[in-house]
Amino acid sequence: MGRLLTAIAIPADLEHVLDEAWKEAEKVEGYLSENEARFLGMLAACVPGKGPIVEIGSFKGRSTVMLGKVAARYGLGPVVAIDPHNSTILLDHQANPQASSYDCFLESIRAAGVAEQVEPLVRDSKEAAKTWQRPIRLLWIDGDHSYEGAKSDVEGFSRHLDPLGVMAIHDALNVFPGPLRVFAEDVLTSDRYGPAGFVHSIAWAQVRPEDGGAFRKERASLARRVARLIPFVRNGEALEGMRKRQYKFWRYLVPHSAVDAREWADSVRAK
Ligand SMILES: C[S@@+](CC[C@H](N)C(=O)[O-])C[C@H]1O[C@@H](n2cnc3c(N)ncnc32)[C@H](O)[C@@H]1O
Repeated sequence: MGRLLTAIAIPADLEHVLDEAWKEAEKVEGYLSENEARFLGMLAACVPGKGPIVEIGSFKGRSTVMLGKVAARYGLGPVVAIDPHNSTILLDHQANPQASSYDCFLESIRAAGVAEQVEPLVRDSKEAAKTWQRPIRLLWIDGDHSYEGAKSDVEGFSRHLDPLGVMAIHDALNVFPGPLRVFAEDVLTSDRYGPAGFVHSIAWAQVRPEDGGAFRKERASLARRVARLIPFVRNGEALEGMRKRQYKFWRYLVPHSAVDAREWADSVRAK
């Protein structure tokens, strides 16, 4: 039977654990909605396989806290949190050329009681990828949203995903040039991956070395729907008027509503 996936173990207290984790995560300034955070927490708890959770792009630690709380509860750490903490987009370097999100990040994980679960790597993900060797169970990408940035994160780290490991990339259904295009072109087209989908703006896919091809039709159908969005996000410029309405209509046709653990587990079961 090898690594065919017949069942996912869903912890009985998962909903309660996600509630408690979100209570801590929402205190941290950040860009993850509650539904996205809960989905991420569910993946952290339920994805089979071995290896750490890797986060690319932590900022002040909202998603790190969510992942850390779940990892702590089920003994699934560490969460390796990769971020140089010097974002020129999110921090005001004109007011303070030394601006960094690192102190705030450290305070967030300390206040949430997850500092022991988290291994910060204060480094650019391209640098971190050069020496990365460990298998990864869950890869969470929320760093550089340019096409080159998202591509280099997917290429640099997804090859380390454990069989049955999952990659998830944020802002794939928001107007950024990288996440959606890389997911559509490099992930949905590959039989290395099996089941895939969207939850709000998170795109996810599971590595399925043995039966990825069995999910090819579903991935291709998703790819056709998201291909229509790529021209709208290609240059990352804010959309207005008719273009914005067109984009939102095509996006509405991409299934991306919240799923609970049971629905997700059913969607990844071997056919
Ligand atoms: C949108 S924020 C992350 C938000 C965070 N996940 C949360 O839940 O609030 C993007 C972060 O990615 C980081 N980043 C940008 N380029 C990066 C790179 N090449 N490697 C690692 N992190 C990067 C930035 O420093 C910034 O903190």
